[in-house]
Amino acid sequence: MVIENEETEEISGLIYSHDNFSDFSDDYNEESRVVSTEYRDEDSNADISLRPKDLSEYIGQENVKEQLKIFIDAARGRGDALDHVLLYGPPGLGKTTLSSIIAHEMGVGIRTSSGPAIEKQGDLLGMLSQLSESDIFFIDEIHRLSRVIEEVLYPSMEDFAYDLILGKGPAAQSIPLKLPRFTLIGATTRAGQLTAPLRDRFGVILRLELYTPEELLIIVKRSAGILGIEIEENGAAEIASRSRGTPRIANRILKRVRDYAQVKGDGIITGEIADAALNMYKIDKLGLDSTDRRMLESIIKFFEGGPVGLDTLAATIGEEAITLEDVYEPFLMQIGFLNRTPRGRCATRGAYEHLGMEYKIREYYNPQLSLLGDESEVKGNE
Ligand code: ADE
Repeated sequence: MVIENEETEEISGLIYSHDNFSDFSDDYNEESRVVSTEYRDEDSNADISLRPKDLSEYIGQENVKEQLKIFIDAARGRGDALDHVLLYGPPGLGKTTLSSIIAHEMGVGIRTSSGPAIEKQGDLLGMLSQLSESDIFFIDEIHRLSRVIEEVLYPSMEDFAYDLILGKGPAAQSIPLKLPRFTLIGATTRAGQLTAPLRDRFGVILRLELYTPEELLIIVKRSAGILGIEIEENGAAEIASRSRGTPRIANRILKRVRDYAQVKGDGIITGEIADAALNMYKIDKLGLDSTDRRMLESIIKFFEGGPVGLDTLAATIGEEAITLEDVYEPFLMQIGFLNRTPRGRCATRGAYEHLGMEYKIREYYNPQLSLLGDESEVKGNE
């Protein structure tokens, strides 16, 4: 795990506001991004029909599938509930879908909730009491559970027991309740934010990876088939390679390109139509949108390529640090445009080249020395 020290740099005494970005004035809020990984209402109808129902339909995540198949077969063979499972990784990769698939493969029911939705003990007990033997209880954004709820979840996960406390103070009564053996599936974009006791109670911890363009190509063709969209191989490849490794984005782009093909062409998604549509939506050849480019450009223009602390960078471009970390950075790191160092974020030579900016080696910053913590040699952004 990378240990971050966010506020080690000063911003050269300057305050950067949005006004510094008149040259990046395109749309950049998360809601309007075609490439946003946030789940939106517009995804829901299509999502349900596009969601694979079992592991054989689920494309990609080969290692995760292989492990799950073994655990599911073993649990079924024993007639037992599956061990508790933690799924983590960037948003939009199919953690919820995978949970439904696990329930389907186990032949059990599933109840779904999310960390912030479980506010009171009563909410949790209400959900737990509806479970049958071996059922799955899915908690999305499990890192957002309150500490109080976490504490009552421990005995539920470990001993399938729930201590109901009635009353307060010395008169309080504890009533032990027995729960069915259930499987908790927790999903999170931030495994590091889970407390150690909660993390330790998951027998299976699986990380979902961004998809390759080849995997996304199969997903795009499959989705087009289900939605009755005519698409050529080149068109599907264009969408796949510009979807930031994320099926949710690929499926959303597919629908937007279909609209474009219908209005500007004859409804068939060819390579040229997909390219023209994506250019119009300001998604570049690698899938970067104006926000990604703004992030990289600000590291380069205002912080000489970095390192810059996450909070500083977030304030500079007017985004939340958490959004940058969860949504933007995984893909920029995967394609080698961004490095996380102990002193902050750095744009790589590849990022400079992609943006058509001249790469300058910074003589006074040596990332190796920075990693060794030799402050005397590292000047950062003073
Ligand atoms: N739709 C979204 N994610 C998918 C996946 N992994 N496989 C097949 N279809 C999908």
